[in-house]
Amino acid sequence: MVRTATVVLGAGGLVAQRLQQRLVHHPWFSLAAVAGSARFAGRPLEEVPWVLEEERPTLPNLTVEDIEDSELVERLAQMGVRIAFSALPTEEARRLEPRFAASGIAVFSNASAFRRVAGVPLVVPELNPEALMEPSGNPLVHACATNCTLLPLVLPLAAINERFGVQAYTMRSEQGLSGGGQPYLEAALAAGTVDPEIPGEAEKTDAELRHVLAWEGDSDVRCARVLRRDGHLVVVTVQTRDPVTLEGLLDGLRSWAGNERCAALPSAPHKPLMLVERIDAKAHLFADGLGFSEGPDPSTDLKAGMAVAVGGVACPNPHTVRFEAYSHNTLRGAAGGVVYLAELAVSMDVLGL
Ligand SMILES: NC(=O)c1ccc[n+]([C@@H]2O[C@H](COP(=O)([O-])OP(=O)(O)OC[C@H]3O[C@@H](n4cnc5c(N)ncnc54)[C@H](OP(=O)(O)O)[C@@H]3O)[C@@H](O)[C@H]2O)c1
Repeated sequence: MVRTATVVLGAGGLVAQRLQQRLVHHPWFSLAAVAGSARFAGRPLEEVPWVLEEERPTLPNLTVEDIEDSELVERLAQMGVRIAFSALPTEEARRLEPRFAASGIAVFSNASAFRRVAGVPLVVPELNPEALMEPSGNPLVHACATNCTLLPLVLPLAAINERFGVQAYTMRSEQGLSGGGQPYLEAALAAGTVDPEIPGEAEKTDAELRHVLAWEGDSDVRCARVLRRDGHLVVVTVQTRDPVTLEGLLDGLRSWAGNERCAALPSAPHKPLMLVERIDAKAHLFADGLGFSEGPDPSTDLKAGMAVAVGGVACPNPHTVRFEAYSHNTLRGAAGGVVYLAELAVSMDVLGL
């Protein structure tokens, strides 16, 4: 298979470097270009400080393109670049992503700027892949991955909804520092304290859940930041329509596979949900659906960190379910998730490649 040439929008940020890491050995996509802000534009990619904990992989010999260059998109199109992975901040994404989409370079975005905007599908691969199909039959040119906090919430909730019907849920999150970006992470680690407030996060998470599940019901969502580098934990209580037994609940979670289109994709976890007794934030960070790697290399292991660990499962009465769930916010919740989404789009042949 010829690898499709891609560009990463963002050079030195957490998600931008996760994208570079995941694309460098990707079987379907190649890292053909990196476009960055003024702080790195024009510099060799190898001079951009590496901010991830794992060792920097051997990246291609590239000069960071200037994302503001008005001729950039045309030049990339001429180079054969067909996909842009965006790790831009919201305002830059709002301004710059449409330039790529308009020229036929399909944008897969981690930014929130176009989430739930008409004409730009917001997709979780296991849940609503059909949303990637343009009603007009035209190639897809712009799609968004969801908020990172949504993943550990919505995947187990979808499994419960399918089997028992979800009428209402409450969620409390404890979110890792890397969810706030590299400068935030560094400052919090240096200070040794963190402000738990994450303005707008609860509203965003609940709205995206309703969108991808096409669900309506009562909810109560509160999100908080905690002093942990990576990983988002959610504590969830669900009211169900149909009666639940603990045995049926465990079986429903264990056997849930999500949409069958996903199974063969390179970044798909072996299984989306992994049942554990209790969540261990260190041990369960790199869930892959079969096991929990310790310190995997995400540049070669595309599945590590892509599954959601589900623990503390309980059924205190026949219409109430409790669980905790945990996933890696910059892998499943960001770079891994958006590459997975592009793999899904390629497999569905919706990009006109
Ligand atoms: N961190 C997460 O867990 C997570 C999860 C889901 C979604 N997201 C979203 O992903 C995006 C990136 O987040 P992050 O965690 O990587 O943040 P970050 O570590 O703070 O990095 C910021 C990124 O934004 C780029 N940037 C900053 N100012 C820019 C400008 N004026 N013009 C163009 N690019 C600019 C930087 O590019 P240069 O390096 O080239 O300066 C850098 O790649 C955000 O939209 C965020 O909401 C993050």
